[in-house]
Amino acid sequence: MKINDLATPSFLLDLDVFEANVRDMAGLCARAGIELWPMVKTHKSTAIARRQKDAGAAGFLTGTLDEAEQLAAAGFADLMLAYPVAGRANLGRALALARQARVTFSLDGAEAARALADALTDDSPDLDYLIIIDSGLHRFGVPPRQAAGLAAALSGHKKLKLRGVATHPGQVYGASGPGGVAAAAAEEIAALTQAREELLAHGYPVDIVATGSTPTASLAAASGVVTALRPGNYVFHDNTQVALGVVPPERCALAVLVTILSRPRPDTFIIDAGSKCLGLDKGAHGSALLAGYGLVAGHPGLTVAGLSEEVGRIAITGDTGLAVGDKIAIIPNHACAAANMTSWLVGHRRGETECAIAVDMRGNARLRTPLA
Ligand SMILES: Cc1ncc(COP(=O)(O)O)c(C=O)c1O
Repeated sequence: MKINDLATPSFLLDLDVFEANVRDMAGLCARAGIELWPMVKTHKSTAIARRQKDAGAAGFLTGTLDEAEQLAAAGFADLMLAYPVAGRANLGRALALARQARVTFSLDGAEAARALADALTDDSPDLDYLIIIDSGLHRFGVPPRQAAGLAAALSGHKKLKLRGVATHPGQVYGASGPGGVAAAAAEEIAALTQAREELLAHGYPVDIVATGSTPTASLAAASGVVTALRPGNYVFHDNTQVALGVVPPERCALAVLVTILSRPRPDTFIIDAGSKCLGLDKGAHGSALLAGYGLVAGHPGLTVAGLSEEVGRIAITGDTGLAVGDKIAIIPNHACAAANMTSWLVGHRRGETECAIAVDMRGNARLRTPLA
């Protein structure tokens, strides 16, 4: 079946592009002699994780416990939790997970560490953890020079085993071009180097130096300090990566196929996809570079000017040759958010549909807690 014959909106995955993206990142890590631990929150799909593993991924970084539980249930044994876990119910889930898979926790403070240690029982396994370093995003993490102090504060928890440090230079998404990307990478590398040196100088082990962001991936991989690269967005790429100059539009694997429903004014199309497909996202952490809510592939005269929930408004300049009933494909600004809006991606090659790929790790996809 041709993708143009699909009902809309449909989420399209260009398999040739996707496979090249997966291969390229695996190759980058292999050439640098470091491990690849893809962040799965981008795609939330065990089928895509399997492709990443087949291409050489050593394990997976998860943004939610839902993702980690789904991966463990699907037989993926090496997992990192990107963020600290808090609260009794979720600590219980995390500890159950640690009996099922090799899980590395992430900590950035004494309180979450104490809660985790208190939830352990005598027969619980030891838990590996990384200290989250703030390399400029100012979200989680301690400044690099405080890494040894935190390690000392947590060393009383005998079952918590320090393995190293991790960061995510998400501030890169606020950059205004390649210079800003290089600056974020420099912050990322400097912070990890300093944290590693602090810990080693105080006698702590640093087997793992982990980081990941798609824009800075090649610079981080070449830095010599990183041992595990944890990028996420690279499997799809999106309009934000295009705007930052990371990739050209042809490297974007995910698009939303939509139909033009109306031309209420000469300069306006209305399409059958809105914020519930494309998202109102302007990149992960806000980008001033994005003009609209997606990139209309192959139609430079079209701008996604506004989104209601289920319909969108496209501003037209020039003659596009398009009419009501025609279909267009829109590359989302933020593919990680858009892929979370659907249960299925339609895999295709050069416009011929090939397979359906389940997005099966989404949050609240299952009722977890018995309510009665
Ligand atoms: C902790 C962490 N690591 C890695 C990533 C992956 O970053 P990217 O999608 O830019 O590759 C993210 C994304 O938000 C993250 O939060």
